Amino acid sequence: MKLLLMNGPNLNMLGVREPAIYGHDTLASIEDMVRLRAAELGVELDCFQSNHEGALVDKIHEAHTAYDGIIYNPGAHTHYSYALRDAVSSVSTPVVEVHISDVDAREPFRAISVFDGVVLEKISGRGKQGYVDALELLVKQLSDSSDGGC
Ligand code: DQA
Repeated sequence: MKLLLMNGPNLNMLGVREPAIYGHDTLASIEDMVRLRAAELGVELDCFQSNHEGALVDKIHEAHTAYDGIIYNPGAHTHYSYALRDAVSSVSTPVVEVHISDVDAREPFRAISVFDGVVLEKISGRGKQGYVDALELLVKQLSDSSDGGC
């Protein structure tokens, strides 16, 4: 099983960016934490971050053949990028949406996600643990669906 951990705009600034909201961990340390859990589960994990919508669209298209699932924090794209929503619905690769902060408890615009209905699940407000929870959920889902049956 091979998964992609993908982060959108401004998430490269974790550790510096509004620590009262997003915590003090850097993106690199969060990626290391998720990689460690992935290794324990016997899963391969690649990490990708971009501030550019087109690069993220391209990566989702690539995931169609390269990955079994995506853990995705779309950052502010969550609230307005129909291009990224369409990219997610263009591929059959399951996606779990992650937000470090509780987007429903912040400014009203953050409660809107264009990914509603095209992601497997949305995990919000669990801090960095949300990424690990998303990994475990995807692994369980993918293992269950490969269990066979008719
Ligand atoms: C975020 C929440 C978004 O509203 C914001 O634009 C981000 C980060 C989160 O992880 O809590 O960049 O996705």
